[in-house]
Amino acid sequence: MSKTIFVSNRLPVTVKKEDDKLSFHKSIGGLATGLQGYHEKSDSLWVGWTGLQDEIMTELDHQEIESILLKDYKCVPVNLTEVEIDRYYYGFSNKTIWPLFHYFSNLASHDVENWDAYKKVNLKFYNSIKNLIEEDDIIWIHDYQLMLLPQMIRENHPKVKIGFFLHIPFPSYEIFRTIVWREELLEGVLGSDLIGFHTYDYVRHFLSSVRRILGCEHHLNTITFNGRYVKADVFPMGIDFNHFAAEYKDEGYKSQFKAIKNSLKDIKMILSIDRLDYTKGIPERIKAYRRFLELYPEFIGKVRLNLIVAPSREAVDSYKELLKEIQILVSEVNGELGTISWQPIFFFFQSFTQEELIAYYRSAEVMLVTPLRDGMNLVVKEYLASRTDYAGMVVISETAGAASELGEYIIVNPNDLDQIAEGIKQALEMPIIEKQVINQTMCKRLKRYNVKFWAEDFMYNLTNLITDPMQLT
Ligand code: G6P
Repeated sequence: MSKTIFVSNRLPVTVKKEDDKLSFHKSIGGLATGLQGYHEKSDSLWVGWTGLQDEIMTELDHQEIESILLKDYKCVPVNLTEVEIDRYYYGFSNKTIWPLFHYFSNLASHDVENWDAYKKVNLKFYNSIKNLIEEDDIIWIHDYQLMLLPQMIRENHPKVKIGFFLHIPFPSYEIFRTIVWREELLEGVLGSDLIGFHTYDYVRHFLSSVRRILGCEHHLNTITFNGRYVKADVFPMGIDFNHFAAEYKDEGYKSQFKAIKNSLKDIKMILSIDRLDYTKGIPERIKAYRRFLELYPEFIGKVRLNLIVAPSREAVDSYKELLKEIQILVSEVNGELGTISWQPIFFFFQSFTQEELIAYYRSAEVMLVTPLRDGMNLVVKEYLASRTDYAGMVVISETAGAASELGEYIIVNPNDLDQIAEGIKQALEMPIIEKQVINQTMCKRLKRYNVKFWAEDFMYNLTNLITDPMQLT
């Protein structure tokens, strides 16, 4: 019987070590939820990093982690040293691929030692799974941290089915070509049978790079590479719709919801939720909100921007600088436009539980999602599912992958502050009937194309693909 092996940089379980004690925390993220059904099946495994640094673990810790992860979570850990975390994770993954794939070429480094560490850690992942692989297995690899892994597996296990999903944008050829190791990255991913992207544009960009850099032809999204067929296709990721649309009765949720409502009184909330990241366009969003208050002063005292930013990758300089920039902008707006009885922005730099976020979603009049670039953006889908009264409205930038599915909402250029300001006004003034019609249609779609559908669709396509040209003749 074939088994399924999922591989991602982070496991769906984070391990922490505090006061010499280990604790295990299950992730409630989209990917973990989507793959849950498959991962629960008897013979499936998930391989990835625990989030811990190797040097702080003893031999006994290693044994305990390995055994608990396997027994209780069906996970296999990959251990990373301090240098590997620095060079593979912070380095090549988040200082080269991440900025370039999001069109921030100015922030990208081309450091050979980081590249060597990236290769080494991809090989480390391969070494962690090679003994688990059997010929008829299905392996699904996730995201930009592991672009070399598909080919490493393919070279040694030619018959296994390998899927790869890129959760971030694939940039245009003109950007991708600037990477020193562009051939290796493409060849690495092409070890797969099926390569999934969130949007048609990303597929198009990928195919164009494959043809122009490697000279491989493609027809109907199928590339011929090393005598095999490799398919590239679109699988827009969804959310666990029912979880966000559910009725919450527990005290934690109720008191949070009440506290938010009490703090708002008659004020209308404009909500913004992101990980700390320069791709999210947070400074531009604050400036656009300021512009909105300047252009439409009738809203002064009547609205509030609740700006929630979850800490992330703070060891990278550009993230540290971004945090400072956000803090300065927030304090400028509050200092210059606030009054004795009104504060324009409430800024939270912390992580909230999912139930707390749902309480925020349900209290927000307008969701402001204006990333400069975003592979998909699931926050906007979570907001729509959470607003079960269909009374919310979204202002979203055209450079978020999700915008290609949300054509009914207010779509803006994230650099055009006046347009965002006008979009906020339009969203606040939109008649409820109009919002309900749009939201009902969208929620039907989100409910159907949920994250389980996404995973099933990808797995179905991967399982049924014929990639050996001999089988087609
Ligand atoms: C993005 C990436 C994921 C990553 C997540 C959190 O969504 O596509 O691969 O896991 O950000 O980032 P982190 O660096 O904390 O894993």
